[in-house]
Amino acid sequence: MGGFMLTLLLCLSAGATVVRGEDPYLFFTWNITYGTISPLGVPQQGILINGRFPGPNINSTSNNNIVIHVFNNLDEPFLLSWNGIQQRKNSWQDGVLGTNCPIPPGKNYTYHFQVKDQIGSYYYFPSTGMHKAAGGFGGLRVNSRLLIPVPFADPEDDYTVLIGDWYTKSHTVLKKFLDSGRSLGRPDGVLINGKSSKGKNKNKPLFTMKPGKTYRYRICNLGMKTSLNFRIQGHTMKLVEMEGSHTVQNVYDSLDVHVGQCYSVLVTANQAPKDYYMVASTRFTKNVLTATGIIRYTNGKGPASPVIPEAPVGWAWSLNQFRSFRWNLTASAARPNPQGSYHYGSVNITRTIKIVNSASTVDGKRRYAINGVSHTDPATPMKLAEYYGVSDKVFKYDTMKDEPPATGADKVTVQPNALNVTFRTFVEIIFENHEKTIQSWHLDGHSFFAAAIEPGRWSPERRKNYNLLDAVSRHTVQVYPNSWAAILLTFDNAGMWNLRSELWERHYLGQQLYVSVLSPAHSLRDEYNLPDNALLCGIVKDLPKPPPYSI
Ligand SMILES: *[C@@H]1O[C@H](CO)[C@@H](O)[C@H](O)[C@H]1NC(C)=O
Ligand SMILES: *[C@@H]1O[C@H](CO)[C@@H](O)[C@H](O)[C@H]1NC(C)=O
Ligand SMILES: *[C@@H]1O[C@H](CO)[C@@H](O)[C@H](O)[C@H]1NC(C)=O
Ligand SMILES: *[C@@H]1O[C@H](CO)[C@@H](O)[C@H](O)[C@H]1NC(C)=O
Ligand SMILES: *[C@@H]1O[C@H](CO)[C@@H](O)[C@H](O)[C@H]1NC(C)=O
Ligand SMILES: *[C@@H]1O[C@H](CO)[C@@H](O)[C@H](O)[C@H]1NC(C)=O
Repeated sequence: MGGFMLTLLLCLSAGATVVRGEDPYLFFTWNITYGTISPLGVPQQGILINGRFPGPNINSTSNNNIVIHVFNNLDEPFLLSWNGIQQRKNSWQDGVLGTNCPIPPGKNYTYHFQVKDQIGSYYYFPSTGMHKAAGGFGGLRVNSRLLIPVPFADPEDDYTVLIGDWYTKSHTVLKKFLDSGRSLGRPDGVLINGKSSKGKNKNKPLFTMKPGKTYRYRICNLGMKTSLNFRIQGHTMKLVEMEGSHTVQNVYDSLDVHVGQCYSVLVTANQAPKDYYMVASTRFTKNVLTATGIIRYTNGKGPASPVIPEAPVGWAWSLNQFRSFRWNLTASAARPNPQGSYHYGSVNITRTIKIVNSASTVDGKRRYAINGVSHTDPATPMKLAEYYGVSDKVFKYDTMKDEPPATGADKVTVQPNALNVTFRTFVEIIFENHEKTIQSWHLDGHSFFAAAIEPGRWSPERRKNYNLLDAVSRHTVQVYPNSWAAILLTFDNAGMWNLRSELWERHYLGQQLYVSVLSPAHSLRDEYNLPDNALLCGIVKDLPKPPPYSI
């Protein structure tokens, strides 16, 4: 008997030592305020985080717990979202109006999430109103854990490059434009890390490089609507990572970065020691807007050449670049298994959702829709309504069909757009763009295989064009005018997830939907409970909390 107890105790204590200690925590306290900024040389109202524009970078490592106390000192409700951070089992922290009540003015909220089994380059941004047009964004990187091999040598340093188009009008004015039926119009410029060649300190280097050393640059386009081409005078870029996946390491002179996308490249300081410009310029626009920033060699003598390298022209170049992107199947991901151990090409598709974007007029005002539905956020976030069992009072599921309407494509209804997708099913989503402008689609909560982008219209025979072997697993895909894109994924993350146009006026005016992925088990293995500190609003504000999920 005593021997049995002793054995049991030994087993228990041995078990306890095997259980991994709690993953490390990173704490942040962020004060969100207005402040005057002049990135294009014109003073305007910006949104600052602890007085900074752009906000601080989050430098984390796989599985870190991230705790961010956010104090909203704006005069409007506010939310931050984490572009590409999957929030496993935890759409409570996604920070979009379909899942979270916004932080009221003068109030605070603490985000708490784990960057679980992810590596790579991401960013955070304000998802409310047109706040993104004023700042409140920053880089978010997830480093590989020490024991997990990375498929390239440690760079000398690791630089975040946030690029985006920019308006000199305030976010309130831009919002008024959209609310009154006007368009945003053309941007006024392009920024690199909140700076342009028209702002202060334009001759100060953004980055420095030691001769002979190799640096990692993480480039994200977090602008409002414009695809940008990124390049560095006199230097090539070796692509190593894209939105959380290690890629085959091709070398490029320049990269098209569409809104919502992030790329990591290695750049070696192997040129004559002086300054060089990094360049971000608009693609597919009549007037090309260009931003430059200086990279200085530490032993440098002399300014950058005023001759800016030219950007590529046309769509074909961009499409060919997309086709050259490949997942490195033998490189490690966040876990020590090879990335290619999941054979997505041999999984049977259980559902095909074909999405056609449209622009039309409803009651005299511009609306953007998906298959005839233009999303509007109900006052009660849909995820909360679902959790409290009152979704029928807030929205209907599946008002949008899996196919665009055969007739009357321009007839649009404005209502919440929520799809019911069965947990753990393997789904194909086709984005068909019949318009003359480029699209960029982003999915929260998941990565998907970007299997194809092709000109023309999609039909089932076009599946022969899919890359079913080594398409990059990522979270944002562009669709060229009169083209389609196909993505494949398993909806294995229970929660409610935003699928959105990253073009912000389209997003704001309805070109987005939410995917409800419910685990029938109501189990903590699949989804976390509503956090104790969750903000409540709408009809759930005073309802009793539902019983928690069980193990
Ligand atoms: C945030 O900044 C505002 C304006 O500078 C200041 O009044 C306030 O005390 C700050 N709040 C916190 C929590 O730091
Ligand atoms: C980011 O975090 C890593 C791992 O903790 C550390 O080695 C590196 O110096 C940090 N970089 C910056 C810029 O803080
Ligand atoms: C943050 O908000 C909570 C209520 O949600 C409040 O109790 C707390 O005092 C606030 N913290 C600060 C530092 O204002
Ligand atoms: C892929 O990753 C492996 C493992 O780190 C590395 O040895 C190889 O060079 C990479 N392949 C390419 C084509 O980038
Ligand atoms: C996929 O479907 C085919 C034909 O319906 C079937 O033969 C095959 O077993 C299925 N494969 C898997 C992995 O379910
Ligand atoms: C969602 O779909 C599942 C079947 O996949 C079904 O059992 C469930 O009732 C649906 N939920 C709603 C709210 O339509």
